[in-house]
Amino acid sequence: MKILVTGGAGYIGSVVVEQLIATHESVVVFDNLSQGHRAAVHPEAVFVEGDLADRKAVDAALTQHRPDAVMHFASKTLVGESMQNPFLYLGDNVTNGLNLLSSMVEHGVKRIILSSTANLFDQPERMPIDESERIVPGSPYGESKFILERILYWLDRIHGVRFACLRYFNAAGATLTRGEDHEPELHLIPIVLQVAMGKREKVSIFGDDYPTRDGTCLRDYIHVVDLAQAHILALGALDRSSQVYNLGNGEGFTVKEVIDTASEVTGKKIRTELGARRAGDPAVLVAASGKIRKELGWVPQFPHVRTIIESAWRWHQANPDGYLK
Ligand code: UFG
Repeated sequence: MKILVTGGAGYIGSVVVEQLIATHESVVVFDNLSQGHRAAVHPEAVFVEGDLADRKAVDAALTQHRPDAVMHFASKTLVGESMQNPFLYLGDNVTNGLNLLSSMVEHGVKRIILSSTANLFDQPERMPIDESERIVPGSPYGESKFILERILYWLDRIHGVRFACLRYFNAAGATLTRGEDHEPELHLIPIVLQVAMGKREKVSIFGDDYPTRDGTCLRDYIHVVDLAQAHILALGALDRSSQVYNLGNGEGFTVKEVIDTASEVTGKKIRTELGARRAGDPAVLVAASGKIRKELGWVPQFPHVRTIIESAWRWHQANPDGYLK
């Protein structure tokens, strides 16, 4: 099968490409390199430097490469930024997605996996969160993903586009060759590891007065390779029906627990400071992933936060300045 991967130079996209190529799929990466890295693109993937905002470029890629399916990662993904600049999300994320989807319909490409998010669940009534939970996006970022999920619903009904929306909880970890390198880095695990490497003085803990076991926010960290496997399984099942799946390990770890574990893994003391709460952070987010386990046989290989951090540490030590720029 030939798969076009938007955002295939980014953190999660590049790892999914690596796993797809390991299963002998043919991959075309479409990425504008605004956040991704050329060096993260697998050498066996065809690389198209292009922007989803440019409809002609999207059309050209679909005409030339004629993919059987699309995986759509390319997007703005920062909850906090979306609260400052909603138009980047309710604007660009949505219009870029529409360019891709309308071009797919025109070119007869009828299979897509969408990267969605736990930010759809700002006020969960039950924890862990399953797919029946009421959707209340927590930010313009979450809203932009929900809008794309709804557009897919209609494209399935009207044009027979089969989709899977994968709602990631907290993606983390690395493979031997691909890891997390954002500029600026705002995610907890890479920040903590930068402190361990001496590249940053300390990590700020965003609030310790949440209703959790130690007062800091609790999240469900999922290894990026387990996420990748979920994409491959979901792709294989698209012909049966369109689906949405929540993806996590079903167990949460607090910010302090992550820092303590990172300290054990790295053997370094990690300096912390107590900061203010970050706007938009819910206290607890844990996924119930029974649906994808049952329907697709997804079994995470690396469910333990310690293993996840170990893999990230290995990558950060091998790539102290991230990817070659
Ligand atoms: N945190 C700190 N200090 C930091 C950075 C983060 O205390 O310097 C805390 C945050 O407040 C949060 C936890 O660590 O409680 C994890 O924060 P991340 O920024 O690593 O991840 P988020 O949970 O904010 O967001 C991630 C993705 C989003 C996605 C969300 C879904 O980045 O795209 O998970 O759960 F929407």
